[in-house]
Amino acid sequence: MAVKVVVGSQWGDEGKAKIVDYLTEEADIVVRFQGGANAGHTVVIGQEKFIFHLIPTGIIHPDKICVIGNGVVLDPAILLEEKENLRRKGITVEGRLLISQNAHLVMPYHKLLDRAKEESKAERKIGTTGRGIGPCYADKAARVGIRAADLLDEGLFREKLIQNIREKNEILAKIYGWETIDGEKVFREYRRFSERLRPFITDTSVFLHQAIKQGRSVLFEGAQGTLLDMDQGTYPFVTSSNTIAGSACTGSGIGPTQIDEVIGVAKAYTSRVGNGPFPTELKDAAGERIRELGQEYGATTGRPRRCGWFDAVVVRLASRVNGLTSLAVTRLDVLDSFPTINICTAYRYKGEVIEDMPADPKSLSQCEPVYETWNGWMCPTSETRSLKQLPEAARAYLQRIAELTQTRISIVSVGPSREQTIQL
Ligand code: IMP
Ligand code: MG
Repeated sequence: MAVKVVVGSQWGDEGKAKIVDYLTEEADIVVRFQGGANAGHTVVIGQEKFIFHLIPTGIIHPDKICVIGNGVVLDPAILLEEKENLRRKGITVEGRLLISQNAHLVMPYHKLLDRAKEESKAERKIGTTGRGIGPCYADKAARVGIRAADLLDEGLFREKLIQNIREKNEILAKIYGWETIDGEKVFREYRRFSERLRPFITDTSVFLHQAIKQGRSVLFEGAQGTLLDMDQGTYPFVTSSNTIAGSACTGSGIGPTQIDEVIGVAKAYTSRVGNGPFPTELKDAAGERIRELGQEYGATTGRPRRCGWFDAVVVRLASRVNGLTSLAVTRLDVLDSFPTINICTAYRYKGEVIEDMPADPKSLSQCEPVYETWNGWMCPTSETRSLKQLPEAARAYLQRIAELTQTRISIVSVGPSREQTIQL
């Protein structure tokens, strides 16, 4: 029995959902601990494709309990929509979905403010998903947020809502010249949500503590990736939560001594959606090929993802700040038809070779990748099921990734389905 945390080791979209789904077999409980509906987690089971934004992917397994921790920012409309989509596919969540009473709610004004702020930024747009994530976390830090538990107390909810609407309408109208929000309409809408969410809202920290004490296996499902972490990532081109493994504790109410393993998911190449520096980005035909072969389009926004070679500086950083115990390398098969493959081992910055990432985006955007060129394997890997079956060049490539990131590889993924997984 173990407590495991799965996090993204790049800029998100590393294929975490597939790895989480694979590891869920051995887990009793799956927990989301940060982020919100900005995440898009895609799982393919047989002919069926599931995309989740809020509910942990573990919900597909009828015997698992899923927890939305206090660190998540919860958009009730999206949660209820996911619940309904699941019901249509014959999956019920009653009794298996727990929502932390301390999770903050994404409100309609958060989404408007997200978009208003982005539109007002000329060149410094972050490229957010527009889901209200930043403004919701800002309200949490400013101590004016509305939490799931507040839904259960109509009077208190109303009071907090009125106070917020007053302030947000001022900002929307006077600073951005945007339409304002009808507080009564929001009140009625959220009152309906409260009736439907009431059965799920509870003290999830107590629940998790007891579950771990009883020896049940818990899997923490990270969203986004390490380089989008508000503190350790490429600030300000980041999301507004901590995406790293430590956040599994603050975002769920367990302690760091309870975590046994931290698995970082990294693609065999790199992608990024949204703006900000990306040293190994390929703006040529090779980048286009990776995007097409890997179907690199955002699950939440449909935006084409920027693609490039594997960056060991990025994954080394991820290994350090997450304390990774192993790596899961995904999408190896996307590189099957490349005659040569580059790996970025370090950066060249102002004539010097540096091994660690500079802190500010301006310096990072001036970094040139230092590449090693490896021979491709030029044959399909999607049917391989063991390390031995992989072509020698692919094994060499993986070994080099492990060396450069100083992290053991525990899982290799060669396709979207559960079977296309190699355990090392
Ligand atoms: P926000 O999280 O919507 O505020 O967006 C901030 C940045 O994080 C933007 O660059 C987004 O594209 C990026 N981002 C947010 N969620 C994800 C995700 O799940 N995968 C990849 N990028 C994401
Ligand atoms: Mg995604």
